Amino acid sequence: MTRHLYVHLPFCAHRCGYCDFVTVVGRTSQHDAYVHALLAELELERHLLAPKLDTVFLGGGTPTFTAPAALERLLSKLPPAEEVTVEANPETVTQELARMLRRFGVNRVSLGVQSFREHLLDVLERVAQPDTVRRAFYHLRDAGFDNISFDLIYGIPGQSPSDLDADLGDALELGPEHLSCYELEAKPGTRFTYAHGEELERQADAMESYFELVVDRLTSAGYRWYETANFCRRDTRDLRAQHNLAYWLGRDYLGLGIGAFSTIDGRRWRNTPRLPAYLTTLGGGRRPEREIEPLSLEVRHRERVMLGLRLDEPLRVDGLGDVLDQRALGRLERLGLLDRGEQTLALTTRGRMLGGGVTADLLA
Ligand SMILES: C[S@@+](CC[C@H](N)C(=O)[O-])C[C@H]1O[C@@H](n2cnc3c(N)ncnc32)[C@H](O)[C@@H]1O
Ligand code: SF4
Repeated sequence: MTRHLYVHLPFCAHRCGYCDFVTVVGRTSQHDAYVHALLAELELERHLLAPKLDTVFLGGGTPTFTAPAALERLLSKLPPAEEVTVEANPETVTQELARMLRRFGVNRVSLGVQSFREHLLDVLERVAQPDTVRRAFYHLRDAGFDNISFDLIYGIPGQSPSDLDADLGDALELGPEHLSCYELEAKPGTRFTYAHGEELERQADAMESYFELVVDRLTSAGYRWYETANFCRRDTRDLRAQHNLAYWLGRDYLGLGIGAFSTIDGRRWRNTPRLPAYLTTLGGGRRPEREIEPLSLEVRHRERVMLGLRLDEPLRVDGLGDVLDQRALGRLERLGLLDRGEQTLALTTRGRMLGGGVTADLLA
């Protein structure tokens, strides 16, 4: 039985140039209908879910831009879980919103900070300014949130190493429980890539040192570097993002909403990303159109290795031998990029810095 539930809330106030997630701008008149459809989809798939869930994650889009009455209704009808996370854009976090989330059982908020530098927020076309981020953080703390995560982006066109250092310093000053730091990805076809493609290419070589700066700064401040791009405070609680951890550990999850993926019992499917089609089919009591992604055992094993080696805990490799290149394992170990244990593999710090390249090398 599936113990992890993802719910996609696609609405955003505006579309940031660099984003290629499944988003829908505005359409406030459809928020209510969308939540209706989500709940109808939940009823159709409820048999797949365990009676008690480990995690629920509301991602977007901007979940906190959803019309408040619709968001409240959704939260009140979702199955309870140990960890309930909502992604929030800083400019949407008012005192009322923070209190409402708490009242409806949300116990973790992932705040889309991206940067604390005004000129970089402008390049990213973000609505929030540095003070908006700080205000949102304090509203969340005041409402009782003791598990807050920040999303930061590095490699923004025009970002100097000292800009990044200052961003990390500003984030550390607030002291969130968790931080995700992503290298800006130039998604093909976005107007951002069109406008900044050349600058991004020019700075590509510097990205390794930016990543090192992120890891150095956050680990020196006492954060655990538990996944390639994710850090958490050391605490008596396990502050790793339990929902994402389930993905990285290859656990089953159910996804609801447009564009959402599900992986259950060795099958993977993706809901239609088209809002009108989603609303119409579920309005008629039928499942949304889906794309089935074939998942052979080999593909699953490769995924296990690629995702498992992103974590700081050794990966158990019994049963995964078919996808590992034994000669490459020896070579990478001699180069000091890989540690081999009894039936386990782990990247060394240097190996983790090089990341995907090392993993690609050791796959047969
Ligand atoms: C799905 S987005 C939604 C969060 C929220 N709407 C926001 O914008 O803050 C989740 C995170 O993905 C990251 N992200 C989105 N587009 C990205 C890109 N092109 N490159 C790197 N990270 C990206 C951002 O850090 C963002 O906070
Ligand atoms: S607010 Fe977030 S999800 Fe919406 S367009 Fe911007 S980055 Fe994408």
